[in-house]
This record gives sequence, structure tokens and C-alpha cells, in this order.
Amino acid sequence: MVFPEYRPRRMRQNETFRAMIRETSLAPEQLIYPLFVMPGKNKKEEVPSMPGVFRLSVDQLAKEAKECMQTGIKSVILFGLPEKKDPMGSGAHQKDGIVQRAIKELKNKAPDLMVTTDVCLCEYTDHGHCGCIIDNKVDNDTTLELLARTALSHARAGADMVAPSDMMDGRVSEIRNTLDENDFHMIPIMSYAVKYASAFYGPFRDAADCAPQFGDRRSYQMDPANSREALREATLDVDEGADILMVKPAVAYLDIISKLKDEFDLPIAAYHVSGEYAMIKAAAEKGWINGDQVMEETLLSIRRAGADIIITYFAKEMAKILNNR
Ligand code: PBG
Repeated sequence: MVFPEYRPRRMRQNETFRAMIRETSLAPEQLIYPLFVMPGKNKKEEVPSMPGVFRLSVDQLAKEAKECMQTGIKSVILFGLPEKKDPMGSGAHQKDGIVQRAIKELKNKAPDLMVTTDVCLCEYTDHGHCGCIIDNKVDNDTTLELLARTALSHARAGADMVAPSDMMDGRVSEIRNTLDENDFHMIPIMSYAVKYASAFYGPFRDAADCAPQFGDRRSYQMDPANSREALREATLDVDEGADILMVKPAVAYLDIISKLKDEFDLPIAAYHVSGEYAMIKAAAEKGWINGDQVMEETLLSIRRAGADIIITYFAKEMAKILNNR
């Protein structure tokens, strides 16, 4: 195939040709919208480093759910800001905890909206780590039971799916066993299987008030330099019973998304995280890039790399644009 016999521009000459051979699609049902739930009444606080993203009190959720459904976003993931924090993160698994109340409210007011919960302790511990601390270290095995209890309390409150994001070893099987023993065998686990120790989580830690008070997360989250280790992490989670494998962050790790898609036959999710969102918003605000176009190109690239599902703060904005086509 050499010029002039083959001319790639032939198939690009108008939108009908281009649409016909387009390899990747982007649709609202592939997007999950993160929601931050906070204590109090009638609260709607914008996160300073994430323009357009709000922390909402439970009573504001019905309105938010309605807006999601109207734009075609059928799925949200919940993060909670508890009233109180303690060393063991006990607020994470309280029956009337912030996330548990949020699930009930959403399931009451918008039963068709799929509610996934982030299962982690860092928003609930006073030290900000994702597990409990023993001898100044994040202790893996004592944390497992707390995570399983948290996942169970979410399922009991009515969650449709749980998503452990703590990166403790063995959490998927612990959560799976606990859910099964309590008759929640139909609740899927979307595992944050490959989660890197990333600086792109900065704005999220402001939003969810969960920055570690000492040290960092590098003894449990993955080293950004590693790619083969991602396969080992994902293999473990598959063996332990994960239903969806997630890679996080997304854009700096498109190679990892692609690798997981090739190696595994489970659905692949990617988390387009807070810092990735904030960078686009900031550059767009300055007029340096076209925010809408960069948003779409970015989400499309995550899909092209192999993600079936994208968790993104852009979900509603993107869906509105797609719906208007
Ligand atoms: C909780 C958790 C974090 C994110 C999702 N779940 C923060 C962290 O690990 O520090 C980050 C999401 C984002 O940056 O948008 N462990």
C-alpha cells in the first residue's frame, strides 16, 4: 500500500466516512460520577481545587441524583466525610454513618441510580491512612476485618456495588467472603486493583479531607515506576473474586490500562482522578486550552487504551455534550 494507490485521507474526507470507521465510542452509560457527602443540612460547598465539584449534605442528594439521571449518568460512586475521625476509622462502618445514610437517601429517592461505594478508611481515620496503625506502620491484616465490615455495612444500607481503594493485601477475598456469608453474593466488587502512589490525588485529599498526617501511602499504593507488578496485583484480585479491575490514575497510566485489557477478560475501569480533572479545568480557565475539547479527547483516549468504564468528575459535563449531538 503505497502512495498514490493508498490515500488515508480518502476515509477522512467527511464526517460520514469518519464516523463509519471510528474505532472508539464514548457514551454516558460508560461513566461513573463521584459524589462527596458531608454532614449538615442544606450544604453545597465547592471544592476550591476542583471547580464544578461540590461536597453535598445528604438532603441535597436527591436533586443531584435527578440531574445525573437526566443527563444519562446512571451510576455514582460515594465518598463520605464523617462527623468524627478516630484511629481505627470506626465511622466507616457505622450503621448510621455518612455514607450509609447517603446510600439510603439515594436508593429511596432515585432507586434506578446505581450506587457504588468507595471502601477505605482514610476519610475516617484521624491519621489519614487507609488502614489502622500498629507500631507506626499501616497494619495490613488488622485492617482487613474493618474493610470487610465497612463493605458489609454499605451492602446492608443498599449499595449496588463496593469498590475497595485501600490497597491492603487480601482485601478482595476478605470482603467477598464477608458479603457471601451475609447473603450478599450478588453484590459485585470493583477493585482498585492497580492504584499508584500518585501526586494526582492532591485535590481529592482536599475534597475528602484525607491527607495522611504523617508519612505517605507508598508502603501500600504502587510505585509509579512499575508495570509488571500491575499484572501481579490484578491476578491476585481476579483470584480473590473481583468483578471489575480498576487502574488509577488514568492518563499517566494508559499503558497499564492497555496491558490489563490484553491480559484479563474482566471489565476494566479507569479512574480519571482529581488532579487530572483540576489540570484541565485550570488551563481552560486561563484560556490556554479548549476545556470541552480536551475533556473529550482525554476521556476518549482512556477508552481507546481499553477502559470499559471511566470514573470521572467530568461525567455530567461530558454526558451533556454527548446528548446534544
Ligand atoms: C481513598 C481514595 C483516594 C482516591 C480515591 N479513593 C485518595 C488516596 O488514595 O489518597 C483518589 C481519587 C481522586 O484523586 O480523584 N483511598
